[in-house]
Amino acid sequence: MKKVVTADDSITFHNELYDETYHSVSGAKEEAIKKFAEPCGIAGFEKVKILDICFGLGYNSAAALDLFQGNDIEIIGLENDEAIIDNILELDAPFDSYGFIHVLAEEKELLIHVNNRIYLKLLMGDARQSIASLPDEYFDVIFLDPFSPKKSPELWTKDFFAEIYRVSKPGARLATYSCARVVRDNLKAVGFAVKDGPVVGRRAPGTIAFKD
Ligand SMILES: C[S@@+](CC[C@H](N)C(=O)[O-])C[C@H]1O[C@@H](n2cnc3c(N)ncnc32)[C@H](O)[C@@H]1O
Repeated sequence: MKKVVTADDSITFHNELYDETYHSVSGAKEEAIKKFAEPCGIAGFEKVKILDICFGLGYNSAAALDLFQGNDIEIIGLENDEAIIDNILELDAPFDSYGFIHVLAEEKELLIHVNNRIYLKLLMGDARQSIASLPDEYFDVIFLDPFSPKKSPELWTKDFFAEIYRVSKPGARLATYSCARVVRDNLKAVGFAVKDGPVVGRRAPGTIAFKD
């Protein structure tokens, strides 16, 4: 996998099989904060449970940990590629919390209870299978970050979104970088309300979805 330096100087990788980068080249760190963690309102939660679908280098989780100011945060990451998890150990990514992501990459589970409680868990395997083991109405926030709908259509389907809806609490928020018609139509078909997410880097907005 080739390293790519993005426009905010943070590093991402290029995946040869998908012929896509793991983040926007306009800024990997910026994308994690502005497209995922901030629009989900992480800074406003006292207690939050996050599902990080397509964990990759863990930037979205790291951004959430950096922004969180409450006292109890739990993040479950779903990822199927050990190679990208191994790459985490080579990186000194510019998040205050990236040390936690390093430990998670090695241990797959991490619980810290000092001033606040931080619980992180990585479920390795196909996200479509892993999600089936998760309880109903459990998560406040979902980060949905697969490769593009063209390259990874199986993770943008109504069937998969119905599972995401099942594990979301009423009032939960989902963020994704895509505003593709098929993505929004499939989110709506399973019950989510959708609106434009922030415009960051690329011209098109992302999508924020809500479960009533
Ligand atoms: C766009 S990258 C995610 C970037 C990541 N959120 C980050 O902050 O680094 C997409 C990720 O989805 C993973 N992936 C692809 N197919 C998957 C599947 N069926 N189940 C779980 N993860 C998958 C890839 O290995 C890759 O790490």
